[in-house]
Amino acid sequence: MKLLLSQSTGYPQDENLMELLFLISNLKDLGAKKVRVVVPYMGYARQEKRFHDGEAVSAKIVANLIQFAGADEFITFNIHEKCVLDFFDIPTTNISAMGAIAEYIDEKIDEKPLIVAPDKGAYPFAQEIAEILDCECTYLSKVRLGPDKVETRIVDVEGSSDETVNVDSVKGKKAFIIDDIIATGGTIVNAVKILKEYGAKSVDVCCVHPILVNGATMRIYAAGANSLISTNSLSADSSRVSLAKSIANVLRD
Ligand code: R5P
Repeated sequence: MKLLLSQSTGYPQDENLMELLFLISNLKDLGAKKVRVVVPYMGYARQEKRFHDGEAVSAKIVANLIQFAGADEFITFNIHEKCVLDFFDIPTTNISAMGAIAEYIDEKIDEKPLIVAPDKGAYPFAQEIAEILDCECTYLSKVRLGPDKVETRIVDVEGSSDETVNVDSVKGKKAFIIDDIIATGGTIVNAVKILKEYGAKSVDVCCVHPILVNGATMRIYAAGANSLISTNSLSADSSRVSLAKSIANVLRD
């Protein structure tokens, strides 16, 4: 029998990871021919390399464990670094949640929004949503000073090879910030503040994976966000965008 198993590995990540490994292994022991594993949020995926001497490459270890437990296929959403998928020797799929998020935004708006990436790394997400909604997008410039400290600047990206807006276009706009992960919220708090400072009419925040530690939700609202929504890759108050349809679409292939 071919089976599909879905389990996220957010907090408590070690417990959820062990549960996932036991489930995969047990299904195989009990005779499953093929186990397709959907891990909407893969814990430890942000440690795809040694950032400091002596650190473990945690993402690689987790990938090896999932495979060793007997997974035949690995499916996830907006993995932080695509190279993490190279740690697997089984087929992998990295689904984008941007379609589902765009659908949600589309239902909420009555005018064309401005989609904003809080840093250049998230710009492809903003572009994906902007293309679906046929609206403008831009990105902010972020410098990470420490694990929970970032500095953000608005940049005028006009004239670059990308089709983007300039700083003046923020004024009077309904801005939607999009990121893959919100952890401490430092990145988003800065982005909300700067967009408000530059005259955005409202600022809503969307992300795929709501890790939301250290009072992130409260700090994002305190910075002036109108709303904070995410997918249900992890369970949080913000998890209002279901990934079920996106998973079903991939499984149909
Ligand atoms: C960074 O590259 C990611 O896309 C997120 O911006 C980052 O993980 C968010 O972290 P935090 O919420 O702690 O600023």
